[in-house]
Amino acid sequence: MKNRRSALVTGGCGFIGANFVSLILQACPEWRVINLDKLTYAGNLQNLQGIEEDERYRFVKADICDSARVEELFKEERIDTVVHFAAESHVDRSILGPAEFIQTNIIGTFALLEAARKSWQSDSWQGPEPCFLHVSTDEVYGSLGDTGYFTESTPFDPRSPYSASKASSDHLVSAYFHTYGLPVRITNCSNNYGPYQFPEKLIPLIFNNSMHGKSLPVYGDGKNIRDWLYVEDHCEAIVEVLKNGENGKSYNIGGNNEKQNIEVVTLICDILDRKIGLPESGKPRRSLITYVADRLGHDRRYAIDATRIREELGWEPKMTFERGIEKTIDWYLANQEWVANIVDGSYQKYYQEMYEAE
Ligand code: NAD
Ligand code: DAU
Repeated sequence: MKNRRSALVTGGCGFIGANFVSLILQACPEWRVINLDKLTYAGNLQNLQGIEEDERYRFVKADICDSARVEELFKEERIDTVVHFAAESHVDRSILGPAEFIQTNIIGTFALLEAARKSWQSDSWQGPEPCFLHVSTDEVYGSLGDTGYFTESTPFDPRSPYSASKASSDHLVSAYFHTYGLPVRITNCSNNYGPYQFPEKLIPLIFNNSMHGKSLPVYGDGKNIRDWLYVEDHCEAIVEVLKNGENGKSYNIGGNNEKQNIEVVTLICDILDRKIGLPESGKPRRSLITYVADRLGHDRRYAIDATRIREELGWEPKMTFERGIEKTIDWYLANQEWVANIVDGSYQKYYQEMYEAE
């Protein structure tokens, strides 16, 4: 992959996308980065404050399903790299309303693939060797029992509308490699955590509720296991796959940090009690834990075998869960206004102020 790149990052205003945009602008000074984001409820321009001034960066508010707009952007910016994050990402929302998941995650990915194919396989294409990287999830593999790990050859067995939509998009991406020779790569990673995660996901939700004396909902028996990956480690893995990965391959990315949900929740409570003292009630925050009805179709355990990316690309997660969770709690403590702006909805006004001022 040559150094100069014109990269389309989709979903760059979301949690992982925003962390990735910041990292890539630092790590690859010669790259131009176009962030295409619809600004759904999960998109927050405040995640990229300061970056707007960087002349290598451009924000475009658009829907990935709008194929005419996407194709126009490919031409206008001579896009040679796609890093595709944009998705509906929350499992609980997919259970309540799957339609948006089918639309964005499947139809949207299809629109991007078509735009890439038309642009990169036209006779007039003169750019560098292109690359389409699809960011996917370990949830496509289904659920594990007490033992075993997901490898890249584990058969897909998605069990929620979210994971089924991601599995479907993975299949489409892979089909474009086999059918059209489109230069694609796929990453399947485990649960991310860190700065800028929307407070509907377990870790920021527990942080926010426990700061406000609200109950801490733990689904089922709390013993479901997730393999936690610090978001910066994930973004570095993506850079590695972009630079040195092989077309047509998928790469599992995991944190080597298997934890039961209840362990994560009690740890957050204990860290907060230690860092800022007990709440007004005088009771440890653990007392707010409430077991609630289980998520429908709740996958029991996820665990990643990341041998391929380690052996072929030399990537390994650097962050232990113990350090990562301390760092994350420190970030949320220092950025309580960011959380408050989401909770009261004011974060959505930032777009009007930044881009529709006149
Ligand atoms: P997120 O929900 O925080 O952000 C999603 C972003 O996509 C938002 O900025 C949103 O506005 C944008 N978006 C949604 N629909 C769009 C559309 N139709 N057109 C343009 N933009 C649209 O998600 P995240 O947690 O940052 O996840 C990013 C990607 O990584 C997703 O593809 C997700 O499946 C995958 N992933 C996430 C995790 C995780 O733990 N968060 C783990 C594995 C894989
Ligand atoms: O594994 C990768 C996936 O991780 C990504 O593909 C998804 O986009 C991302 O949202 C995440 O999915 P999960 O469903 O695992 O994440 P969530 O934070 O919603 O839940 C983590 C675990 O905590 C899960 O077992 C459900 C449980 N949970 C969650 C919430 C929100 C609770 O017990 N209580 C809660 O309130």
